[in-house]
Amino acid sequence: MTIFSMLEKRRAVRNYEDRPVEKEKIIQLLEAATWAPNDRLREPWSFYIFQGEGKKKYQQIAEDFLFERFPDKEKLRESSLKVVKNTPLIIVVTSDIIEDDPAASEDNEYAVCCAIHSMWLAAEELGLGFVWRTRGVGLVRDERLFSLIDSPENKKIIGSLFIGYPDEKALENMKEKKRTDYLEKTTWCQ
Ligand SMILES: Cc1cc2nc3c(=O)[nH]c(=O)nc-3n(C[C@H](O)[C@H](O)[C@H](O)COP(=O)(O)O)c2cc1C
Repeated sequence: MTIFSMLEKRRAVRNYEDRPVEKEKIIQLLEAATWAPNDRLREPWSFYIFQGEGKKKYQQIAEDFLFERFPDKEKLRESSLKVVKNTPLIIVVTSDIIEDDPAASEDNEYAVCCAIHSMWLAAEELGLGFVWRTRGVGLVRDERLFSLIDSPENKKIIGSLFIGYPDEKALENMKEKKRTDYLEKTTWCQ
């Protein structure tokens, strides 16, 4: 497959089979991330892997978050928590914050975004479904997730990557992928 067709084919996959992701495949995802471009080779990324028993801790803080955020919406809490329960593998990715250098810290975030996209494409090639989450149970702005990964203040959480073998039925029912034509977003500067 060419890079162009991979980019067009990549999807956010949110429904998975009840089947663990093999450690070899996790390692391949992490290696794919490692080759991402990054300014001055700071390699600003760190990864925190949650699966099996370890994922229960993530599940617990997601439950606490949902209870705090939606105290009166039991159905919504249940469906959101089900998303976490039904995801075999979660990888939390952080970016290094450089004290007194906001520009470099920002560049670090861009590099981590590149690394996450590399992982997303690699996941496709490995037959894995993948979605980068920030909102809701992605928990990237929730203090509890910082505590769970024992993160010092010099790291920012960029994403929680939800990964698993795709549920084929859900894949079939996915909406068609749509994008605005680049022409509407492009200015050829003279
Ligand atoms: C920075 C970022 C944050 C995202 N956060 C969420 C999220 O919190 N929940 C979610 O379901 N999808 C999330 N997504 C996935 C997007 O919703 C998805 O990429 C978009 O709908 C386009 O679909 P496609 O990836 O299949 O082309 C996020 C994607 C990015 C890049």
